[in-house]
Amino acid sequence: LGLDLIVVGSANADLVVAVQRRPGPGETVLGSDTSVLPGGKGANTAVAAAKLGARVALLGAVGEDANGELLLDSLRAAGVDTSLVRRSQRPTGVAYIFVTPDGENSILVSPGANSALTEDDVDLADARVLVASLEVPVSTVEHAVSVAAERGIRPVVNISPMAELSAGTLAALDPVVVNEHEAAQLLGGADVDPRGLLDLGPRSAVVTLGARGALVIDANGTQRVESPQVEAVDTTGAGDAFTGALAARLAEGSDLVTAAQLAVKVAAISVTRKGAQPSYPTAGEIAG
Ligand code: RIB
Ligand code: NA
Repeated sequence: LGLDLIVVGSANADLVVAVQRRPGPGETVLGSDTSVLPGGKGANTAVAAAKLGARVALLGAVGEDANGELLLDSLRAAGVDTSLVRRSQRPTGVAYIFVTPDGENSILVSPGANSALTEDDVDLADARVLVASLEVPVSTVEHAVSVAAERGIRPVVNISPMAELSAGTLAALDPVVVNEHEAAQLLGGADVDPRGLLDLGPRSAVVTLGARGALVIDANGTQRVESPQVEAVDTTGAGDAFTGALAARLAEGSDLVTAAQLAVKVAAISVTRKGAQPSYPTAGEIAG
């Protein structure tokens, strides 16, 4: 295939509703009309990288249903190779997303076909970088990372949603990507020195800080990368955009700080528009 990136991860139909506030237990709240948009952490990451010009394949699973077609159409429109996306008997994953006026969201995921992605599906073509996230079975990701490490493919994992990875998997990552909450969970506290992430084994770590940018942590020390300041409309999938852009630049041979500088720009643009995949910028927008 001659790829820059192979992304192992989920594809979901995002059912997005704008709400004034989240419903509490036993409460009914009325929201906006529902938008059905292509999402899922894996597909989002693949689309973000492809829109920047990277050669990307998604290794994932969708159902034999209309939502599956929606995902495949979005992936293909962005130029993602879908030959490693399997059709499953299970329904395509669905994410129920509530977006509040501050642009923040709450997400419930019904994984469906994503849970059917197994170790046997892991078929890593020739690629420079493997990117994975954890809406597919952890065992599948751990297998993909070990195959990648054996073949000299650089493994990058976004620990989202939070799940436990083996010490062997963590040790291979370069970098592990987490947000502040995930970093706090890994470190066992919010006010802990983020350099402690390296003690868990990875060669490098990147902590996304939302509007405050990102921290890049490696053997050279810790460096903060600033984000452009923008008006947030919908932060859904901003972390996936960050990871896709970061991995695309790493595949080109950029160092981690340079890659993170592009990634914060891409994520910042994505939060100014609705949805995940439809909000991601092209290489032309970044240059301009
Ligand atoms: O990270 C954002 C994504 O999380 C959404 O697109 C939704 O599908 C959930 O998986
Ligand atoms: Na967005």
